[in-house]
Amino acid sequence: MQQLLLTCRPGFESDLAAEIQDKSAAIGEFGFVRAKPNDGFVVFEGQDASSADTLLQKLPFADIVFARQWLAVIAHLEQVDPQDRISPIVDALAGQACRSLWMSYPDTNEGKGLSKLTRKLERPLEKALAQHIHPKASANVHMFFESGTNIWVGVTPRKNAAPWAMGFPRLRQPSAAPSRSTLKLEEAWLQLIPEPQRASLLKPFQKAVDLGAAPGGWTWQLVQRGMQVIAIDNGPMDKALMDSGQVTHLREDAFAYKPVRPVDWLVCDMVEKPARVAELMERWLVKGWTRFAIFNLKLPMKRRWLEVSQILERMEAEFEAAGCRYRLRAKQLYHDREEITVFAAPEHY
Ligand SMILES: C[S@@+](CC[C@H](N)C(=O)[O-])C[C@H]1O[C@@H](n2cnc3c(N)ncnc32)[C@H](O)[C@@H]1O
Repeated sequence: MQQLLLTCRPGFESDLAAEIQDKSAAIGEFGFVRAKPNDGFVVFEGQDASSADTLLQKLPFADIVFARQWLAVIAHLEQVDPQDRISPIVDALAGQACRSLWMSYPDTNEGKGLSKLTRKLERPLEKALAQHIHPKASANVHMFFESGTNIWVGVTPRKNAAPWAMGFPRLRQPSAAPSRSTLKLEEAWLQLIPEPQRASLLKPFQKAVDLGAAPGGWTWQLVQRGMQVIAIDNGPMDKALMDSGQVTHLREDAFAYKPVRPVDWLVCDMVEKPARVAELMERWLVKGWTRFAIFNLKLPMKRRWLEVSQILERMEAEFEAAGCRYRLRAKQLYHDREEITVFAAPEHY
């Protein structure tokens, strides 16, 4: 397949376009990207008929910062008859085997209006495509509804993609959590730590430090996992969270604080210059003050991919110069606005 459709947070199309252009060129696949502001998706047009397949095989999806989901396009159906959307989809798929059927739409106001339609189509499509569904197939058939009459039909590989059709998990705000930011850390764990490793990386009795912790949404997540947390912030922490007995609150400057003993986890959600946060994280990791880290990097207004790639490259170069082997995984999460979230772990994890 020649075209690869990638979804993103609306407003970040040009950043995703720049990123996919860089990453495809780096593996010798050339093409151009169609991207319109606020559409919530972009389309990479490859140089040959198998460009999209090559990208799906060679680019690890987890490494694409601004992409939420992707599909290799089999057919772009335009001006579909609203009375019969099923027949052109079945025709386009022409025997394509799949594990299950996925439907998604752009994360825009118009896109959200399509959720009712996609739900309505679920059963009839499953029935019409029943012979295509094989439990062991390596891809999901994916229908991306740009509108009710404009449908991109394609495939999303099972093993190299986000595990949710829309590209993000639906999370509910826990009523006891002290802030809405709590969902950022919960999503980060689901998006950035592969499922088989999650339980062994997030364990009760681990020690954690939360830099810029108040009022405590991230600390709350760590406490839920049974960890002991040192919360650094000049601001007040949520009282009920402090009553858990698992949190020590220190009113200190996060940039000056040093842990007495190394910890398992460092998390950091400060509104600060990204380069400054990156340096702070480097220090903690290079000095071995923490094993794992999750932190936010605020994005600039423009050329966000350029800034992100430079910061991540600089961090990697610092680790290498210090003889440390860390793997960085960065994503713009659903709960991230003008920021991305980064997970750092020793390379063998
Ligand atoms: C976005 S809030 C953190 C929200 C928190 N993650 C939550 O879920 O509730 C950023 C926090 O960083 C703190 N902060 C900013 N600069 C700091 C510094 N140099 N040292 C300690 N805390 C700092 C602020 O006081 C603020 O409470």
